Amino acid sequence: MITMKDFIYDGHPLLRTVVNEVKLPLGTEDKETMQKMLAYLRNSQDPKLVKKYKLKEGVGLAAPQIGLNKRIFAVRTEDEQGQLHEYVLANPKLVSHSEALTYLSKGEGCLSVKQDIPGIVPRYDRIKLTGYNIEGDLVEIKAKGYLGIVFQHEIDHLNGKMFYDHIDKNHPLMPPPGAVAIE
Ligand code: NI
Repeated sequence: MITMKDFIYDGHPLLRTVVNEVKLPLGTEDKETMQKMLAYLRNSQDPKLVKKYKLKEGVGLAAPQIGLNKRIFAVRTEDEQGQLHEYVLANPKLVSHSEALTYLSKGEGCLSVKQDIPGIVPRYDRIKLTGYNIEGDLVEIKAKGYLGIVFQHEIDHLNGKMFYDHIDKNHPLMPPPGAVAIE
């Protein structure tokens, strides 16, 4: 299982690398990685396991965060309606997005960033992405609001971007015009 000893942290060059696509059809090793990444998120959301293994709770995990140069991420979170969403995708692509923006009013955090970095991170309100699921099928996903923000945060990791890159240095707490805040 993945534990905190597998993580790399802000400052590591892999977190600033556009990582490589995985080979298709998916091989056994990549499928195992996908399983483990989703399992990490599940474990990290279970208070007993968090205590036992000293995990840090997360709603998204990208392969470079555990030292792998691969375009894979996992997402596990509830949306604003309390509906659980679980995804693990290889070679994800953002295919379209809204003009409208949104942001988390409390800012974003990251398993690879130990300190709090306050500031508004503008994200698209609605996105459409594609990727290969663990069965190797190409899937298309529409996401909005909080779920969409989590996806965008994870896609960024595959492109060497960190959430704080999006924060306006001169006006870190100024919302983008017309953007909808998510509490
Ligand atoms: Ni992150």
